[in-house]
Amino acid sequence: MASVEAFNKCLLQSEALVDYILEKNVYPRENELLKGIREATIENFGFKSEMLVPADEGQFLSMLMKIMKPKKTLEIGVFTGYSLLTTALALDDDAKGEEMEFEFAFIDADKYNYLKYHEKLMKLVKIGGIIAYDNTLWFGSVAYEGEVKGMPERLMRQRASILELNSFLASDSRIELSLISIGDGITLCRRIS
Ligand SMILES: C[S@@+](CC[C@H](N)C(=O)[O-])C[C@H]1O[C@@H](n2cnc3c(N)ncnc32)[C@H](O)[C@@H]1O
Repeated sequence: MASVEAFNKCLLQSEALVDYILEKNVYPRENELLKGIREATIENFGFKSEMLVPADEGQFLSMLMKIMKPKKTLEIGVFTGYSLLTTALALDDDAKGEEMEFEFAFIDADKYNYLKYHEKLMKLVKIGGIIAYDNTLWFGSVAYEGEVKGMPERLMRQRASILELNSFLASDSRIELSLISIGDGITLCRRIS
């Protein structure tokens, strides 16, 4: 039986390295409004604040938005709005538009429904657009087979959905994909057909 030592959503195993990235690279440049949300969420939600996307993942999403310059984006799984505000702040002023199709979607909600969301999003996000699924490495546990020592049943069930999603995405010829090991893993799917 495999075990994941601590169910920490940051996949880097060295705490010092995590601190280095956050303290030296991310926090000094974090937008004040985002910092406010992060701090208020930690203060008010206790352990549930773990649901926030980590600030380094937020920085990555912000960079992605600035490169992509999408006019219309969508998010499923808002919580206190950290990732939503991250993308909103990175959009051009004229973003919104009247088009019906989205160019970017960030999915960080109920893992059980990710596959259903995928089929809907393949219609809502235009060809060339990106669908980003969060938590696709699930505390690093996706690498193990069978039971994961110490992982609560609820997390194991969600892990099964993530494994199903990862396997489906890997064989989906309608997309190109890249699974990035930042935060808890984020899979970028670029719709090609
Ligand atoms: C991991 S949190 C999202 C964190 C957020 N991305 C952030 O950085 O602040 C997941 C959120 O998805 C919401 N959620 C769960 N199921 C949902 C559903 N079916 N539709 C929309 N939101 C859902 C939960 O209430 C929770 O707020």
